[in-house]
Amino acid sequence: MRSPALVRAADVADAAGIAAVYRPYVTDSVASFESVPPDAAEMAVRMLAAPRLPWVAAERDGAVVGYAYAAAHHARAAYRWSVSCSVYLAAGERGAGTGRALYERLFAELRPLGHVTAFAGIALPNAASVGLHTALGFTPVGVYRAAGFKAGRWHDVGWWQLPLREPPADPVEPGAWTPPARD
Ligand SMILES: CC(C)(COP(=O)(O)OP(=O)(O)OC[C@H]1O[C@@H](n2cnc3c(N)ncnc32)[C@H](O)[C@@H]1OP(=O)(O)O)[C@@H](O)C(=O)NCCC(=O)NCCS
Repeated sequence: MRSPALVRAADVADAAGIAAVYRPYVTDSVASFESVPPDAAEMAVRMLAAPRLPWVAAERDGAVVGYAYAAAHHARAAYRWSVSCSVYLAAGERGAGTGRALYERLFAELRPLGHVTAFAGIALPNAASVGLHTALGFTPVGVYRAAGFKAGRWHDVGWWQLPLREPPADPVEPGAWTPPARD
């Protein structure tokens, strides 16, 4: 079996590679509910959105072949210790452990910032994504029925959650992420 791709923190220099990995999931799939693929500039804006949250990239032969990131789960203040996570791989990169490696690195970047819970929404069915989230310790929360309409039909979205740490009684403000120097 292939080994997982090299996983490292991502920065805006990866925005074009990340946009290229994401594009087919927007144009040809319901894994993303977006309908217009973001270009590199828009991806860079997302990567730098405040408060800055971790993005990680998988690289093979110098090219970005996958990525995972965390985003604010909701804008309202009480949600600020909660993030939503997503992960996407280039075609041909699946089943080699790269999705797991991306998520493990993402959570390792998130935990020191003080985040408490990671959520993931998965348009159903998606056996690979459910398998990955389950393997990483996420547990199912429930299903939003007919939550999105794309490619001519309605789609359910299953939600999963992962505790990143014990919820503290008196949480300190979550920190903003700074990508470590290229590792
Ligand atoms: C979901 C995705 C990121 C998984 O990444 P991957 O590199 O193929 O997964 P890995 O090889 O790291 O496998 C991780 C775990 O997921 C499970 N898994 C992976 N593919 C699976 C499949 N098709 N069916 C069931 N389980 C699967 C494996 O059993 C594995 O468990 P283990 O690590 O305990 O052995 C990848 O399939 C992908 O990019 N899919 C398209 C985009 C997408 O749907 N993203 C998620 C949006 S919510």
